[in-house]
Amino acid sequence: MTDVSSKGPEPGDERPVLTNRQGHPVYDNQNQRTVGARGPATLENYQFLEKISHFDRERIPERVVHARGTTSYGFFEAYGMWGDEPIARFTRAKLFQEAGKRTDVAVRFSTVIGGRDSSECARDPRGFAVKFYTEDGNWDLVGNNLAVFFIRDAIKFPDVIHALKPDPVTFRQEPNRIFDFMSQSPETMHMIVNVFSPRGIPADYRHMQGFGVNTYKWVNEQGETVLVKYHWMPRQGVRSMTAEDAARIQAHELGHATKDLRDAIERGDYPEWELLVQMMSDDEHPELDFDPLDDTKVWPEDLFPAKPVGRMVLDRTVDNAFAENEQISFGTGVLVDGLDFSDDKMLVGRTFSYSDTQRYRVGPNYLQLPVNQAKNADVRTNQRDGLMTYRQDRAGENPHVNYEPSISGGLREGQFPTHDEQGPQIVGRVTRKRIPRTNDYKQAGQRYLLMEQWERDDLVENFVAMLSECDRPIQERMVWHFLLVEDDLGLRVGEGLGITPDDVKHLEPLASQDLTDEDRDRLSNLG
Ligand code: HEM
Repeated sequence: MTDVSSKGPEPGDERPVLTNRQGHPVYDNQNQRTVGARGPATLENYQFLEKISHFDRERIPERVVHARGTTSYGFFEAYGMWGDEPIARFTRAKLFQEAGKRTDVAVRFSTVIGGRDSSECARDPRGFAVKFYTEDGNWDLVGNNLAVFFIRDAIKFPDVIHALKPDPVTFRQEPNRIFDFMSQSPETMHMIVNVFSPRGIPADYRHMQGFGVNTYKWVNEQGETVLVKYHWMPRQGVRSMTAEDAARIQAHELGHATKDLRDAIERGDYPEWELLVQMMSDDEHPELDFDPLDDTKVWPEDLFPAKPVGRMVLDRTVDNAFAENEQISFGTGVLVDGLDFSDDKMLVGRTFSYSDTQRYRVGPNYLQLPVNQAKNADVRTNQRDGLMTYRQDRAGENPHVNYEPSISGGLREGQFPTHDEQGPQIVGRVTRKRIPRTNDYKQAGQRYLLMEQWERDDLVENFVAMLSECDRPIQERMVWHFLLVEDDLGLRVGEGLGITPDDVKHLEPLASQDLTDEDRDRLSNLG
């Protein structure tokens, strides 16, 4: 017979005792309960069953995009001004009003396409999502490190992501699938000229910009609205990597950007970004050659200057990656009073998608988790119960009343805004149409011309390397697009692939695209 008295802690070992989740002390964490030393195992072994069955459930579905990321905390400090003018002229959002006012933030940086443990050296946009815990509840500004996006209508999001994700048969990221989609979607040109340039592999998370990308609105006390775009500029400067740099780092480290950020914060070298805002009046702007609601476009800074409205410092890392990084949940619908949506067709679709996926990925009560709670505002709802309810939201003075209206002490509605009607009048018939002024090539060409020579060389090299793996008709269509973006880009990528303008001049414009007069001029000069 085994002498149990010989087991147990060494004399003087003061460490706390392991328990199971029921609070029962565990005196043997090495051996299952069995009949005799050689088994069989008994099924009533609660300690073993609890341990293994909890382990079996450790993972939740990873994010369908932006699965790999890292979260940090800090604060946002307002300047109270937009240029020379008090910010109150444009927005009544409380967090922006007073110079020096601080708001707690949580920020998650991420890559987009790879899975939860994938490389942070990937050529991929980077996510830049900020949660402001304001006194009016949370505001999420869910952005990327690049100023524009691949598509302009949310209905295309599953397609562009499917094309970029691994092949459903081979589970390999296939250039042929990526450029099959891009070649049929000219609206992607501006984005891919960015993604395949050195900007497509930021050196790390501290040295990258952030952009809200979509167009939002600000609303002031009088109910007047303006269109706005948000930009984060790193005080650390912007740094990128070439494909060779990335390959070298990736050979020994997949999470270099997470490590860099955590190390910097832990040694007190707190990264900082300034928030700048571009503004335009809330109308269609027929004088512009693009639509202000089109997220494949930037707003020219000479016409719409970006003015600083505050700064953000990150000074704390997470204690638990799962609770605070895996379960943190951002969404474009999470706005506070004084901030509003525009009719940008991407933004509206995104706003449905985020909370929808989070109810599936994290659970219907994801907003009760500490990292997602509106911790600086009172939360009082009549929403009750559901899977994993952690606590009851605060009710009115009578806990029996979880409905509204009531005369028995339940919750009441808040103060109606003085200006509930706001924004321009919209008249139209229900339809499915592209927005006018798609102008898919011009800003892509301007971006190319703004690059330094080494960046252009890198861009051309990256396109040629990827397109070399694609079918000839896809290569030809991409060269055709690039010739419309900028002659030099089309000629150089064509040269790398052995395709001349003459080879592509027979191609007709796609049925799904609108050409400008300038595009037609370029087409007529091919060959
Ligand atoms: C994450 C949908 C466009 C930035 C996500 C997630 C979904 C999604 C479902 C996963 C959320 C989660 O599981 O918590 C969409 C749709 C889009 C779109 C439907 C277009 C219609 C964009 C754009 C940007 C962006 C244009 C940049 C401005 C992000 C970021 C995350 C994210 C930063 C990660 C948030 C985090 O760190 O948890 N998106 N997205 N998305 N998306 Fe989008």
